[in-house]
Amino acid sequence: MPPINAYLIEDDAQPARAGFTTLASTQLDPGDVEVDIHYASVNYKDALAATGRGRIIRRFPCVGGIDAVGTVAVSGSSRFKAGDSVVVHGHGFGVSHHGGWATRARVPADWVNRIPSPLTELDAITIGVAGYTAALAVDLMELNGLKPSGGRVLVNGATGGVAGIGIDMLAQRGFHVVAVTSKPEHAPYLKELGAREVITAAELPPATRPLEKAQWAGALDSLGGEPLAALTRTMDRDGVIASFGNAAGHDFTTSVMPFILRGVRLIGVNSDNPPDVREHVWQRLATDLRPRHLGRIAQVKPFEALPQVVLDVADGRNRGRNVIAVNPTP
Ligand SMILES: NC(=O)c1ccc[n+]([C@@H]2O[C@H](COP(=O)([O-])OP(=O)(O)OC[C@H]3O[C@@H](n4cnc5c(N)ncnc54)[C@H](OP(=O)(O)O)[C@@H]3O)[C@@H](O)[C@H]2O)c1
Repeated sequence: MPPINAYLIEDDAQPARAGFTTLASTQLDPGDVEVDIHYASVNYKDALAATGRGRIIRRFPCVGGIDAVGTVAVSGSSRFKAGDSVVVHGHGFGVSHHGGWATRARVPADWVNRIPSPLTELDAITIGVAGYTAALAVDLMELNGLKPSGGRVLVNGATGGVAGIGIDMLAQRGFHVVAVTSKPEHAPYLKELGAREVITAAELPPATRPLEKAQWAGALDSLGGEPLAALTRTMDRDGVIASFGNAAGHDFTTSVMPFILRGVRLIGVNSDNPPDVREHVWQRLATDLRPRHLGRIAQVKPFEALPQVVLDVADGRNRGRNVIAVNPTP
């Protein structure tokens, strides 16, 4: 087998030591399935890991990249055979086990899903962990009573990867989506995805009292911190917040009033799931939650551009999903 081209993160100094190298297949981590990687992506978490701005990597050195797609080269699992088109994400991938920024990965079978028809490999990596998380959030919000007739749904960090796919999914299910962004110049893009209104965070009224005017039936929260605290205070009765991100901070302070007086539901969303949940979410991604604007959301760059894309995402200059063509199929 030819050497594996990889982008290896060596430490978490600031800036982290990271760069292109080659690995032998004996240097890959253990697993049941070997995948020839065609595309990977750069998520917010990847950018923190590869710049050293967040303590993400738990084992050095580590090939970065928390999601990837490609074809199975070798399988010791009865669930997969050579040639299957698959998506890999979750658990230790790109965190404590070599990830997707390499021409080959070896992983446990439980981190792998067959790409469901009619999605292509490029569709599946544009979705990636981000779209998976958005779909899981929508699934959990619906289980908790969110309906299009209930009222408006706020999506913050709107130009981000999870948020953009979330806007697309919610809009096609008939929700009135309000996108909140720090980049109002991207309003036409957000409207194309399906947002009915686009506003900046500065246009949201201040929310400091335990309960403020109720405005939102649902919220997809990429930010955490103060924006999440404000959301708890401004949700409608029985409103549902899906909390999955921390782009604005980890800590937030609120009171119990929204929960005990308005029945606000604060739902945690974690994309590390067992195989049955992964299968359910990927099936929905290929059917009733299938995003319609993946071509608009994807920004595809060559493997050599990875270091620059990492900096762009870490500095918030990105939009949508940052796809890396590691070794694309012709
Ligand atoms: N729980 C899970 O399993 C899971 C899975 C995937 C992602 N996540 C988390 O979800 C969040 C979003 O991920 P992503 O991959 O979509 O990231 P992303 O593409 O980088 O998008 C994040 C967006 O948040 C906004 N933003 C960034 N920094 C900010 C700041 N300091 N203050 C306020 N807004 C800021 C920006 O949007 P605007 O400029 O449009 O406002 C940015 O585009 C991250 O925190 C990530 O770690 C969690």
